[in-house]
Amino acid sequence: MYAAFRSIGAYVPSKVLTNSDLEAMVDTSDEWITKRTGIKERHIAAENETTSDMGAKAAELAIKRSGIAKHEIDMLICATISPDYFCMPSTATIIATKLGLDKVTAFDISAACTGFIYALSVAKAFIESGMKKNVLVVGAERLSSITDYTDRGTCILFGDGAGAALISATEDKNEAIIDIHTGSDGSFADLLMTPNGGSGSLHDNPEREAAGCFMQMKGNETFKIAVRTLTSDVVEILEQNNIASSDVKHFVPHQANYRIIKAVGDALNLADEQVVLTVEKYGNTSGASIPMAINDIYESGRLQNGELMLLDAFGGGLTWGSALVPFAGKGK
Ligand code: ACO
Repeated sequence: MYAAFRSIGAYVPSKVLTNSDLEAMVDTSDEWITKRTGIKERHIAAENETTSDMGAKAAELAIKRSGIAKHEIDMLICATISPDYFCMPSTATIIATKLGLDKVTAFDISAACTGFIYALSVAKAFIESGMKKNVLVVGAERLSSITDYTDRGTCILFGDGAGAALISATEDKNEAIIDIHTGSDGSFADLLMTPNGGSGSLHDNPEREAAGCFMQMKGNETFKIAVRTLTSDVVEILEQNNIASSDVKHFVPHQANYRIIKAVGDALNLADEQVVLTVEKYGNTSGASIPMAINDIYESGRLQNGELMLLDAFGGGLTWGSALVPFAGKGK
């Protein structure tokens, strides 16, 4: 049995936070943000809109487009670092209930911006082992709730949104997800973290503990490791599967920074039309960024059945991952 990437869906909240809005909040400029990141705007969830609300909306679309009935779905994985609730219950269980999925196996994955690829690898393993048949993989983030809007180093980067994919069992090898690589290095944990609120912060610094659960990032150091790791990761997965970069129809990288994406694309000799870019309009939506980007090419009619996608992500942990995924659904 193989695992096929059957459908995609996404949800983008309506409220937009532009670079000029941020100019009024912190000491920054549209010019700086555009030049250093490529981001022009990001979407922000409504006050009462949760990560699970957005995840459920993205998942409804993915289910509808898959042609698979809800009662056939036997697992739901949610990749998020901005869950509805700290520790428990998982956001996945709440999404499952909102979707009306009955007694489904549901759990969250915490791998920051690599979360969607990690979740995809778990779905693939469960399906290939024969334990599950139809797995809903959701990446959903309300990063605005863990962003410090007085910190110009991070608040200009992040946005909210959700994406979801239905992964289903197939006997047709041509439809199969070809390969997924994942890795981590916790010795770089302090480059990107939410240092407060967990057991690790209790003995650490009580004042910091009171400051809230906001993301902190050593951006410049993270940037250099991101370019290096993302590049070596995609080179390795292509080589190991004897696939040339010219055979990739859509390179879908995590949308953190245009300069990172450009550096990796150039290292692989990719043409502009192979590289999927949404960073300008959504910013960095962590675990939601890759499925939101896939949904964009689907909705614009650029993603067709059988076309090969190369996914690539890097994030807090540090974590990283890449995946070679043919689109096994119907194009729009
Ligand atoms: N506006 C204006 N100036 C700023 C801003 C801002 N918003 N932010 C920082 N600066 C200043 C700095 O203070 C610094 O000033 P100085 O030279 O006087 O000290 C200068 O700009 C340069 O700062 P750098 O941090 O070196 O800028 P850099 O070019 O590295 O860009 C950025 C910063 C955009 C954060 C970049 O480093 C980056 O994208 N890093 C990687 C992010 C990433 O990939 N993270 C992983 C995924 S995220 C996740 O897992 C949740």
